[in-house]
Amino acid sequence: MKALNRCFSMIKSHIIPQIHSTSKKDRNKLLGNKSFVVWFTGLSGSGKSTLANNLEMKLNNDGILTYILDGDNIRHGLNKDLGFSEEDRKENIRRIGEVSKLMIDSGIIVLTAFISPFREDRNTVRKLLGDNEFLEVYVKCPVEICEERDVKGLYKKARGGEIKHFTGIDSPYEDPVNPEFILDTENTSLEKSSEDLYKFIKKKLSI
Ligand code: ADX
Repeated sequence: MKALNRCFSMIKSHIIPQIHSTSKKDRNKLLGNKSFVVWFTGLSGSGKSTLANNLEMKLNNDGILTYILDGDNIRHGLNKDLGFSEEDRKENIRRIGEVSKLMIDSGIIVLTAFISPFREDRNTVRKLLGDNEFLEVYVKCPVEICEERDVKGLYKKARGGEIKHFTGIDSPYEDPVNPEFILDTENTSLEKSSEDLYKFIKKKLSI
């Protein structure tokens, strides 16, 4: 492993970053708003994808360009080589952090919907992007309720031992300590949660 890392840093030292004339600032100006990631985190079935979808529709309606990166979709393409071990989830989030960084640089508002169960991995992305460009949204819902909803029937499979390392059942979820926004989808309707978040995000857009 050490030898491999040494090899990587040797290769890296021969790669000199290119400077381009057009910057993120220029692209933000072109599109008329700041770019950042709205990072939805929470258990499977908590409502991340629905809330990201609602936020996207509201922002698009105002002429703001967004893009959703959703775990269930990305795991069919870019991250189809990854499973659900701690190591693979870490790599899943690392790649999404890097993709988000590129998309933010392109000027787009990125909405990510990944369980992203580990605090350390989310904080690594926060460090990569900076506090202003990483807005952590905790989609809070107890596992009992997510299990009751069981939209995809996966909790049943996890209880039956058909799926291993299922978050909330036999794999941990670490709540965010200081998220930018909390959406309590146990006690608040999705409509109200979507509207509250939309208002919060709208205030962050102006250049
Ligand atoms: S993460 O933990 O690495 O962030 P991610 O958000 O990409 O997970 O994928 C989670 C989705 O994969 C869930 O919504 C669910 O549909 C599906 N899934 C399949 N197996 C598991 C598992 N063992 N734990 C959690 N989700 C799983």
